[in-house]
Amino acid sequence: MTAYDASANPAAPLLLFDSGVGGLSVLGKVRELLPDAPVMYVSDNAGLPYGTKTEAQIAARVSGLLGRLTERYRPRLVCIACNTASTIALASVREVLEVPIVGTVPAIKPAAAMTQTGVIGLLGTEATIRQGYVDRLEAEFAADKRLLRHAAPELVAAAEAKLRGAPIDPAVFTRAAAALRAMPDGDRIDTVVLACTHFPLLEEELAAAFGPGVRFIDGSDGIARQIAFLTQGQAWARGAAGDIALFTRDEPGDKALGPALHRYGIDRRLVF
Ligand code: DGL
Repeated sequence: MTAYDASANPAAPLLLFDSGVGGLSVLGKVRELLPDAPVMYVSDNAGLPYGTKTEAQIAARVSGLLGRLTERYRPRLVCIACNTASTIALASVREVLEVPIVGTVPAIKPAAAMTQTGVIGLLGTEATIRQGYVDRLEAEFAADKRLLRHAAPELVAAAEAKLRGAPIDPAVFTRAAAALRAMPDGDRIDTVVLACTHFPLLEEELAAAFGPGVRFIDGSDGIARQIAFLTQGQAWARGAAGDIALFTRDEPGDKALGPALHRYGIDRRLVF
């Protein structure tokens, strides 16, 4: 029997996966490079947030879901548009799935090239900032810099609220900035790695909280380039009905995401 080759089907989607709306920050960059790509955006809202879960819970959940999703929807490529899931489960998911998988890596390498003061802040989830994966990136690319890490789970909730048009307490942004600034050398931070895909959706608010002289960097440009590279030469057939967002739980509040999803070219919402 010949293996099914999704890349030969022009309607086969790119599947972008996150625990919530964070992966839309990656989708925005993917759209700039591949405007004709059919996209299936998956929000595991039943599992949100990932950042407060254990490694075992996240690895089991992500591999199980991606296994079922790829079997049902036959994507040509999967992007784990979530730092927490990628830093924990990327290697094990790659071992069990045949489809090409692109992960999300905290942008420590480009941050190390950007910083002038040598002090880099990193905002992520609790689960991400404790990963050996992050230690290895730091050792490889920022050994001669100072990397200050802070877990900011309330920013995940803030991004979810922002995209639903719900009010956000502005103190969440000042708290995140103040926590990094309060660490030794924190006053010299000039570059902040947004190591959670939810956080670029809040860049404006975070920039105001940190004040002038701080630049932000995330991994989405590199991910979009990698997806474009891996799908080079493939044909695309994006249906006139627009792309699809799949949720793992039907939540009444998710209707409010309609306008935000529309801005990313998604006009259909389904529950998986
Ligand atoms: N968007 C996810 C990330 O990039 C995390 C959000 C969560 O805690 O579920 O890490």
